[in-house]
Amino acid sequence: MNDPRILAGRFPGDFVFGVATAAFQIEGAAKMDGRKPSIWDAFSNMPGRVYGRHNGDVACDHYNRLEEDLDLIQSLGVSAYRFSIAWPRIIPEGTGPVNEKGLDFYDRLVDGLKARGIKAFATLYHWDLPLMLAGDGGWTARQTAYAYQRYAKTVIARLGDRLDAVATFNEPWCSVWLSHLYGIHAPGECNMDAALHALHFTNLAHGLGVAAIRAERPQLATGLVLNAHSIHAGSDGEADQAAAARAFDFHNGVFFGPVFKGDYPESFLSALGARMPAIEPGDMETISQPLDWWGLNYYTPMRVSHDPAEGAEFPATVPAPPVAEIRTDIGWEVFAPALGDLIRKLNADYALPACYITENGACYNMGVENGAVDDRPRLDYIAEHLGVTADLIREGYPMRGYFAWSLMDNFEWAEGYRMRFGIVHVDYETQLRTIKKSGKWYAELAGAFRKGRHRAA
Ligand code: FCB
Repeated sequence: MNDPRILAGRFPGDFVFGVATAAFQIEGAAKMDGRKPSIWDAFSNMPGRVYGRHNGDVACDHYNRLEEDLDLIQSLGVSAYRFSIAWPRIIPEGTGPVNEKGLDFYDRLVDGLKARGIKAFATLYHWDLPLMLAGDGGWTARQTAYAYQRYAKTVIARLGDRLDAVATFNEPWCSVWLSHLYGIHAPGECNMDAALHALHFTNLAHGLGVAAIRAERPQLATGLVLNAHSIHAGSDGEADQAAAARAFDFHNGVFFGPVFKGDYPESFLSALGARMPAIEPGDMETISQPLDWWGLNYYTPMRVSHDPAEGAEFPATVPAPPVAEIRTDIGWEVFAPALGDLIRKLNADYALPACYITENGACYNMGVENGAVDDRPRLDYIAEHLGVTADLIREGYPMRGYFAWSLMDNFEWAEGYRMRFGIVHVDYETQLRTIKKSGKWYAELAGAFRKGRHRAA
């Protein structure tokens, strides 16, 4: 089972196998070379926010171990690396002076990838907003979208000639709802009005970012990474079915609608539209510029039932129990068919461009024993989800690549370092990297894969 050679044969010759990370989760060197704090530095230094009060000061020390980590990526035999660029290294105060040393780091990173024959997939925003911008309201302020546009332009002017693809944002669902409504991520707000402002200004920033990228580099493949939710009703009953439809609009529609249709969903607008910030003329056109690709980050399905509580706020749902018995160490249900359902549903609802699975993977916390990490369940998880991806290609969906989350164990946001998603183990005491069983298997898969122009077997 899970023979990497058989699985490799199921992908067309131009499919991209890669690994993914994000700046704040791996870089460390939080105060080096002119970097200033982000909202995640502030958040993680506050008691009670992040498990064990862990922070990003050292993380995987990737900033100081760039060359060895690039060698590690190369040793896995993958053809692409998805990483993010830290805004607080490039324009440390959010607006104001550009920090050349920050740009130099990503120059070395991109050149190092090119020298090793690895494609560079950059994400401009993976949640590390410069802390100074929080003083003006952070994402709840319209001017943050313009600050982001300048940052995007600055990065692309310097690196755009060597990038293979760029994403404006990683998972706006997290930086909007999880950060401003559910309070789990920085800045930790639990406030619908703030969240609705963050929503529109993040969408606007995406559109302004696309315009900035295209003005600098019209040919650069420009996209957006969304953690679309595969939403399943807790029962066949009418109330639960309606709840699932509302949840779809709230969790997916408010991002997919503006970007791919130029509109917020009706149900959402009639429930919450009056509390949104002003949508200025031209905003929806800016947000809905055509994209070259989109990325899906998928881990687990979302199951919901109707919330019968009087006055429950839209989308008025409560969690429904998981169907699959298997859960990863972070508690997320493992249910691969939901990945297929999600791609089919989204393509039915929206006219979507080519798709990369920009993140998929599993949390299992087993450690090193006799120099090895036996993380068989992670290997099985990745193999199963790749199997579903191959099925989707056979059905004709434009799935162009897959990035395992993550290259290595790292700072898992509110969970700190206790939750491990890497296909490479990191010993945080010594910074020793150990390729896990899943990583060796993934390397075998990448090695068995025949690049070329052929279609899948
Ligand atoms: C996603 C994030 C990524 C990582 C994984 C486990 O939501 O994009 O940074 O934390 O979850």
